[in-house]
Amino acid sequence: MMILHYPHPLLLRRTQDVDEIGDHVLEIVRGMFEVMYKSEGIGLAANQVGLDMRLFVANPSNDPEGEIVMINPEIVAHDGRQVGDEGCLSFPEIYGKVTRSSAVEVEYYDLDGKLCKMEAADLPARVLQHEIDHLDGVVFISKMSPGDRTVNSRRLKELENKFLRSKK
Ligand code: CO
Repeated sequence: MMILHYPHPLLLRRTQDVDEIGDHVLEIVRGMFEVMYKSEGIGLAANQVGLDMRLFVANPSNDPEGEIVMINPEIVAHDGRQVGDEGCLSFPEIYGKVTRSSAVEVEYYDLDGKLCKMEAADLPARVLQHEIDHLDGVVFISKMSPGDRTVNSRRLKELENKFLRSKK
């Protein structure tokens, strides 16, 4: 598994719902946690590793007990507003302020195929929104403050050029 960088097209379109939750999904999830921890990330969406599947892994607390796996997640309620710095494994060396809801409620399936609901606030809520955006093909720079986007514009251009060169 390798992390795709912006502007890879898989990062820019909605992923397909997972319609069967079996051992293959468990294998994928294990691999994704491994890649995420190795890269020191706190969340990773399947399309970031080239898989067109609506699922992500996360661990905002960095505690082994805090691992989150969400399959076919949807935000069903949100409240409040928070502004904070974000980065993304698909955007190396790019950081900026993003406005998010301060709390969210998410419906999703777990690895046993059970429909679950989770409420989160603050950083965990930010991570869930960032990852669900990935699954919708939405990347965090599209929600970044205009000032921070300008600050990162040269680096973004570099990533775009690198991707174009890799296509040749
Ligand atoms: Co990301």
